[in-house]
Amino acid sequence: MRTMRLDKFVAHTTPHSRSEVRLLLRAGRLRVNGQPVKDAGLALGPTDTVALDGTLLTLRGPRYFMLNKPAGVVSATEDGEHRTVLDLLRGENPEGLHIAGRLDIDTTGLVLITDDGQWSHRVKAPGRHEKRYRVQTARPIADDAETRFATGLCLRGEEDQPTLPACLQRLGPCEALVWLQEGRYHQVKRMFAAIGNHVERLHREAVAGIELDPALSPGEWRPLTSAEIAVGRVPGS
Ligand code: URA
Repeated sequence: MRTMRLDKFVAHTTPHSRSEVRLLLRAGRLRVNGQPVKDAGLALGPTDTVALDGTLLTLRGPRYFMLNKPAGVVSATEDGEHRTVLDLLRGENPEGLHIAGRLDIDTTGLVLITDDGQWSHRVKAPGRHEKRYRVQTARPIADDAETRFATGLCLRGEEDQPTLPACLQRLGPCEALVWLQEGRYHQVKRMFAAIGNHVERLHREAVAGIELDPALSPGEWRPLTSAEIAVGRVPGS
């Protein structure tokens, strides 16, 4: 461990927020190297030990979760109006967590959450990993939709930058699976708008080979398995 502020260290190793850590300090419940401390900004070195109520705290490794996002919940860490996906991770300290690929408020399905920035960067990298969506449309899907998705579409406001080839598999007149290599703003909805249709329902089923666990009801989450985490790891690390 390089130097880290005491309040940050405690917030990372316990369910307490940084403001709660200040209360713990005031109450004399934290000790560094056996001595009671009051300074939240104290710089900890690699050999310092920190104890809360006599229990030694140790830094945990990075965290990785999947969540089945219900409609009406925002893919954000904070929101003044709506519930966020982090609000659903009850019992987990939200400190340092972020979302690896957001969904619109009305989109449901797989959201990946982590505090490992390099991992989420790799999972989101355009062209490297595919995302699979189940789409329901307002009108029958046009006959040439497969070809137009595969060729690349010009989205409104981004006419100079056609979408990367995407795959569409028709499941019914108004239902399809779509595989995307990139994640532009409202991309699926804008692609269907570009072929004269409208998305009524959108559900993300998979990202980068990580499938939404069918055992998770809307709003439920679980930690990723080591095989799922390996998807975003640098080879050899
Ligand atoms: N494409 C969209 O239009 N919305 C999403 O939430 C995800 C992909």
